[in-house]
Amino acid sequence: MNPKISGVLGPELVGSHFELLKLKVTQNQYPESYTPKRQTQLMTLTNPMKVMTDEDLHALEAYLNSFK
Ligand code: HEM
Repeated sequence: MNPKISGVLGPELVGSHFELLKLKVTQNQYPESYTPKRQTQLMTLTNPMKVMTDEDLHALEAYLNSFK
């Protein structure tokens, strides 16, 4: 999967920062004043990754930013 490409399941994630990843993955929320790329609630129903730690999410942030 290429995080630069918007997919049928979810939006493109390249450049997503730690705060966004943390809130979306663990609480299905967005940072204040952040405009979501999609208004669907599909991730709520399907996300099996709620247990990701801060360390995991920092690693993921670095990975996603490496595509910029
Ligand atoms: C570790 C796993 C995941 C991460 C890190 C992740 C991350 C994110 C982030 C950061 C957003 C917000 C994008 C934005 O508006 O800028 C998002 C939205 C979304 N994701 Fe995920 N996601 C994960 C798993 C999934 C799974 C398993 C699905 C579905 C099969 C999914 C479907 C969606 C959808 C449809 C949206 C649009 C908003 C919504 O419907 O909730 N994601 N994801």
